[in-house]
This record gives sequence, C-alpha cells and structure tokens, in this order.
Amino acid sequence: MNLLIINGPNLNLLGKREPEIYGDIKLEEITAKLQSIASELNVSIECRQSNHEGDIVDWLGDASENFDGIVINPAAYTHTSVAIHDALKGCGLPAIEVHISNIHAREDFRHQSITAPVCIAQICGLGIDGYEWALKALVKNLQ
Ligand code: DQA
Repeated sequence: MNLLIINGPNLNLLGKREPEIYGDIKLEEITAKLQSIASELNVSIECRQSNHEGDIVDWLGDASENFDGIVINPAAYTHTSVAIHDALKGCGLPAIEVHISNIHAREDFRHQSITAPVCIAQICGLGIDGYEWALKALVKNLQ
C-alpha cells in the first residue's frame, strides 16, 4: 500500500508560524513520525508540501498511477480551491482531510471546507496527532 501525504501553503513554516495555534513541531518532524508509523503499519508513504495550488492539482491528477490513498492538509486552499476539490474528486482515491487547528472554532472564513465533501473524512483540532489518526484511518479503510 502506497499513500500520498500532501501539505499545502505555509505548512513548510510549521514550528515558527503562529505556534500558539499550530504548535512548535516542524513539518520535517511530523514527516519523520509518519514515516515511522507507516513502517509499523507496513505501508509506504510519500510526503510532499507546496505553496502552489497548481502543484497540488498536478500531484492529485497523477496520484492514481502510484498511490492507493491520500492524506491532505490543503491549508488555506481548503477554503478557496474548487481546483483541488475537482482534483480530489477526479483522482478517485480515498482521501482524508486534516487540519491541525479546529477550523470550526476560528474565523468565519475558515468554517467552510470546499475540499471536505470529496474526502471520506475530516479530522481537525487534534493538533499534529491528526495526521497520525488520518494515516491509521486511511490504512484501515483500504484494508
Ligand atoms: C490549517 C487551517 C487553515 O485554515 C489554515 O489556512 C492553515 C492550516 C490547519 O491545519 O489548521 O494554513 O489547515
């Protein structure tokens, strides 16, 4: 089983970006943790981050050639991107959306997710542990 983990804009800045909201753990540390969980679960993961909507659309467009499922934190594109919604739907793979913060308890413009309706689930508000739960849930869904 091969899974694609996608992080969207500004998540490369985890650790120094608004630590009171997102914590002080860097994206590289999250990736390392997910790699170790993946090996315990006997699955492969590839972790990618981009600040550019088109990169994410391209990755989703090619995903079904190499991957069985997706964990995605579309970050700010969650609230704006019809293109990522369409790419998630079009790729035909199960996807779980993750948010570190509880988007429903923040500003009004974060309450709507354009991408969640084309995912099998959304996990938000559990901090970086949300990635771990999403990975485990996706593996279970695919078994
Ligand atoms: C986020 C929530 C989004 O609203 C925000 O734009 C982000 C991060 C989260 O993980 O909590 O960049 O996706």
